[in-house]
Amino acid sequence: MSSIEQTLSIIKPDAVERNLDNEIKEIFRNNGFKILKEKKIRIEKSEAEQFYKVHETKPFYNDLCSYLSSGPIVVMVLEKNNSVLDNRELMGATNPKDAAEGTIRKKYGVSIDKNSVHGSDSVENAKIEIDFFFKD
Ligand code: CMP
Repeated sequence: MSSIEQTLSIIKPDAVERNLDNEIKEIFRNNGFKILKEKKIRIEKSEAEQFYKVHETKPFYNDLCSYLSSGPIVVMVLEKNNSVLDNRELMGATNPKDAAEGTIRKKYGVSIDKNSVHGSDSVENAKIEIDFFFKD
């Protein structure tokens, strides 16, 4: 049984730079996601390091954090039934080369780093990630 969930979505610098943010937001809306909160921001590398702390030991961590802090991003809280998994399905595989037809990363992703969008990978992490950007 699915239930109403919230998930965190980020439109990454490669997509914002190409002015794809409105188009991508429309894809979310057309797929039943409500955009409850959103803001366009630019973060410091130290903030990206905190956000991606789970990847701290990975070889791509430094590049990933430099990249996420390299330009404006759009962060959003999305809501719908089963939103964590449905968002991951709509985004497609991490590497755009492996992403299925019709997914956001297939359509817009440039490389595994410049893969246009991020989405929380579990309900638990969604709460942590939403708090990270929207705790008031
Ligand atoms: P994202 O969903 O934002 O979560 C972590 C990011 O690390 C991922 O998308 C990719 O953009 C990036 N990344 C770079 N190299 C890799 C890799 N080898 N495996 C997984 N993620 C990677």
